[in-house]
Amino acid sequence: MRIAFLYEHPTWSDQLLTVLQRRIPGIVPVNVAELRFDTDTSNCGFSAAINRINIMPSADRLPQVVFQTQHYLSWLEQSGVRMINGARAHAIGSSKAMQNGVFSSLNLAYPNGIAIYRQEDAINAAEQIGYPAIVKPNIGGSGSGISLYQNRAELEQAVQIKALDLGVDRTGIVQQYIRSDGFVYRVEVLGDALFYSIKQPVVTGEFNYCAAEGCSTDDPEQTVSTEQRATEGEDFDFCVLNNDAGGIQTHNPAPTVVDNVVRIIKASGADFGGVEYFIDTGTGQPCYYDFNPYSNFVSDGENLLGFSPEERFTDFVCHILNIGR
Ligand SMILES: Nc1ncnc2c1ncn2[C@@H]1O[C@H](COP(=O)(O)OP(=O)(O)O)[C@@H](O)[C@H]1O
Ligand SMILES: [Mg+2]
Repeated sequence: MRIAFLYEHPTWSDQLLTVLQRRIPGIVPVNVAELRFDTDTSNCGFSAAINRINIMPSADRLPQVVFQTQHYLSWLEQSGVRMINGARAHAIGSSKAMQNGVFSSLNLAYPNGIAIYRQEDAINAAEQIGYPAIVKPNIGGSGSGISLYQNRAELEQAVQIKALDLGVDRTGIVQQYIRSDGFVYRVEVLGDALFYSIKQPVVTGEFNYCAAEGCSTDDPEQTVSTEQRATEGEDFDFCVLNNDAGGIQTHNPAPTVVDNVVRIIKASGADFGGVEYFIDTGTGQPCYYDFNPYSNFVSDGENLLGFSPEERFTDFVCHILNIGR
């Protein structure tokens, strides 16, 4: 049995891949950042595929990788491959609009949002949502491209100079600004079960967070620059080892939150993934705002979590494919 392991970041999957390859014969790494494929479905060569692609575009990856990945995932499905996190999960992960649709269909609290593609439409959308309002690209990642507007004049000025960042597909969402209790919470699940959960403090007005790895890429105090991290391929990894930089902590979510995250994962067609939420100080309740159809592996996970996330993820894969050790 040949099983594709799909990834695109040069280093983020190294530890996981080592464990997967040790325990599951037939794992074949496929880096979608270099992907070209023969479209003949009889030539696919894989019976299953594990999708661990973070769709986030970055300076050293062409934006087209986002769309090439979508084509590949759908083509794998056409070829009859058993997908672990397939094309639908991936599509929802790359659409803030569809994520809001999932939260809404499950009757969960979420920041109201209006999907747009023309910059000028942001003004009416924000009028409807109310200020402060946020503009997010559908395909972002770690908060990239998100901006906050306190009033109509600020937004009009940005629209006038076409300063809204609607990301690589030039679509996005105007979203209600949520006043939180000062933390972002992230719950990761594998199937029906809690994988782990973390929380980290937010800095008001900053959005460029990696909630899994505990840092804000806008933080001027950081000892390693974003550029340096990108070129070294290490991105957010240092933060977890240096808790002072991001203050990442493990956290015990309420059982209802875990249930809701499992419902979100299933409604998104995913097998595993993570959901971010705030505690909305207006209601005192969780407000769900982001779904990521891949699991983040916090660096030094064993020390932070008390178990090896790589081994546990591999247990999960073995269980659903009924293979391995
Ligand atoms: N509606 C909102 N109100 C207030 N802050 C927000 C809101 N949405 C996002 N943020 C902040 O911006 C960060 C990134 O937003 P998110 O939707 O997770 O984007 P990405 O997909 O890029 O991770 C969040 O972790 C949070 O700190
Ligand atoms: Mg996020």
